[in-house]
Amino acid sequence: MAYRVPFVDPRTHYKNIKTEVDQAIIDCLTQGDLVYRQQLHDFEQHLADFVGTKYAIGLNSGYHALHFSLLAAGIKPGDEVITVAHTFVATISAIVHCGAKPVLIDVGADYNMDMDLLEAAITPQTKAVIPVHLNGRICDMDRIMAIAEKYDLKVIEDAAQSLGATFNGSNAGSIGHTGCFSFYPFKILGGIGDGGALTTNDPEIATIASRLRYNGEDRETGEYHFHGYTALLDNVQAAVLDVKLGYLPSWIEHRRHIASLFHEGLRDIAGLVIPSFNDPAYFDIFQNYVIRTKDRDPLRQHLNDDGIETLVHWVKPVWEHKDLALENPALPETESICREVISLPMSAETTPEHVKQTVQSIRQFFKR
Ligand SMILES: Cc1ncc(COP(=O)(O)O)c(C=O)c1O
Repeated sequence: MAYRVPFVDPRTHYKNIKTEVDQAIIDCLTQGDLVYRQQLHDFEQHLADFVGTKYAIGLNSGYHALHFSLLAAGIKPGDEVITVAHTFVATISAIVHCGAKPVLIDVGADYNMDMDLLEAAITPQTKAVIPVHLNGRICDMDRIMAIAEKYDLKVIEDAAQSLGATFNGSNAGSIGHTGCFSFYPFKILGGIGDGGALTTNDPEIATIASRLRYNGEDRETGEYHFHGYTALLDNVQAAVLDVKLGYLPSWIEHRRHIASLFHEGLRDIAGLVIPSFNDPAYFDIFQNYVIRTKDRDPLRQHLNDDGIETLVHWVKPVWEHKDLALENPALPETESICREVISLPMSAETTPEHVKQTVQSIRQFFKR
C-alpha cells in the first residue's frame, strides 16, 4: 500500500544527498578502498569529535558495540547485568552471549529506565548496567553514574537511538564507560546497511574493541591476542556515514521542529499521552515520536485506513518470546507500554504537511 504519509522515506532521503553519497562510494570503489582504509579512520575521528569522546571504533552493528563493551568490561558467566525489558532485543542478547544473566527492570513515563528501581536490583553478582536511551531521549545519567560509582559497576550506554541527545549538556555515549551506536538504515544517522560504533575515553577499551572486531588481531603487529569476531565497519559504509554525519545537526533540528508541530497539534487530546517537550535538562533528538493511548489498536487501524503509516515497538514484552527463555520479571509499565504505544511518522523527510495530516486524522479519531 502506498501511504500518503510514510513512516520513513529512504528514496527521498537518498535523492536529497545523492551527489555526495554517490561520489563517496565511487571514490572507494575506484581507489580500491574497501577494508580498513582512511575513510574509516576519518569517520571514526569525526564521530568521536561529535560525541565528545577520545575514541570511536567502527563496527558492523550496534549489537557488536554492546557485546564488545560487555567483553571489555570483563563480563563473564555468573555475572549479572541490569538493563530494561523495554528495549530492542539486541541489548539483552549481548548480555546472554557473554554467559551473564540479564536482570530486567521497568521503565518510567519517558520510556527510559526507572532509576528508582535500579538500586534494589543490584546484587553481589551485578557487574554492569546498561541504560538504554530510547526514542532519542537520554536517561538521567547523573543518577545512574552516582549509583554505579557507589556499587563499582560499569556503565554501558545503549545510545543506538540517541546520537546527538544530551543530558545537562553531556552527550549520549560520552558519559559511561562506553557508548553504543547503531547505524541501521532508519536510525537518525543511518547507513546503507548495518553498522555501528563503540565510543569511549578509555584507551584500553578502545584497543580491546579494535582487536575484537578484527578476529583478535593487532593491526600494527599482526599478533592475535584472543579469539575475536569479524565485525569491522565496512570502509564504503564509513565513507557514506561520514558524508551523512555532516548533515546530522540539521536533521536533528528538523526532527525537533517536527516534534514541536506534533506537540502543538496533539497536546490537548484527552486519552492521549504525548512525549514531554523542552525539559530544561534534556536535548531530545526524536529518533521516534511515540504517543500512548489505551485505544492503540483502533487508532492505528484508523491511521492506516487514512493512509498514514505507523510502527509499534514492541508488540509484546520480550520475556513473552518463550524461546528466548527469559524469566518473567513482572514489569507492569513495560507490559502496558507494549499494548499502548504507537510511533508516528518521523524522519528527515517528514514534512509539516505530513504532520498536519497525521494530527487531523488523530483528532478525528478521538472526536468519535
Ligand atoms: C535500543 C537499541 N539497542 C540496540 C540496537 C542494535 O543495533 P543494531 O541493529 O545496529 O545491531 C538497536 C537497533 O535497532 C536499538 O534500537
